[in-house]
Amino acid sequence: MSDILTLGVLASGRGSNFQAIIDSIEKGHLRARVAVLITDNPGAYAIERAKNHNIEHIVLRPRDFTDKDAYYSHIAHELEKRGVELVILAGFMRIVGKRLIERFPNRIMNIHPALLPSFPGLHGQRQAVEYGVKISGCTVHFVDEGVDTGPIIIQAAVPVYDDDTEESLSERILKQEHRIFPYAIRLYSEGRLMVDGRRVIIKGERRDAVITNPPLEEA
Ligand code: GRF
Repeated sequence: MSDILTLGVLASGRGSNFQAIIDSIEKGHLRARVAVLITDNPGAYAIERAKNHNIEHIVLRPRDFTDKDAYYSHIAHELEKRGVELVILAGFMRIVGKRLIERFPNRIMNIHPALLPSFPGLHGQRQAVEYGVKISGCTVHFVDEGVDTGPIIIQAAVPVYDDDTEESLSERILKQEHRIFPYAIRLYSEGRLMVDGRRVIIKGERRDAVITNPPLEEA
């Protein structure tokens, strides 16, 4: 691993997690650079964020490829060409194809707006409100071929209140997403994540800091 971790970001929409990662880099909390933003959506606001920070962006739409394998092989090629070491799914609204996963094993991270394994898939926040749980949160995990099933790196919890809506809970969770995603990338950049089957061991981390309360100032 080089001194400065090279990231490739995949995003489909607003890109607030992408922005949190850029901010963490610019504040000097994360020794990394974003080599490229790849999006499947030409209207993604994430593109504006890339432009604002002089980050290259590419729009790749699945419909311009013969099939899913061709699409994800091409994405892998674009990432490899730029020396990307870690791939970040920051609101990439697709189930990633195996052609990308096999070329970046345990080197793709996703953020999910629920405490996995509860409420995988779409609308994790709405699922939590409708189910009636009292605690929800967000999860950063490595990506495998399932839907939100890969090894869990870090989680943050938030309360769910009786009068919460999908929107109010989403907002509370999003604040935590912006803390823990850059923090998980930082742990990776420091070589502190060890994957042991389903489990991710964080080297040198205080136990109580890992589960529910990653240090805010470091994220
Ligand atoms: C976040 O809620 C994230 O958990 C989910 O997609 C949303 C992306 O938001 N995977 P943004 O584009 O990063 O603002």
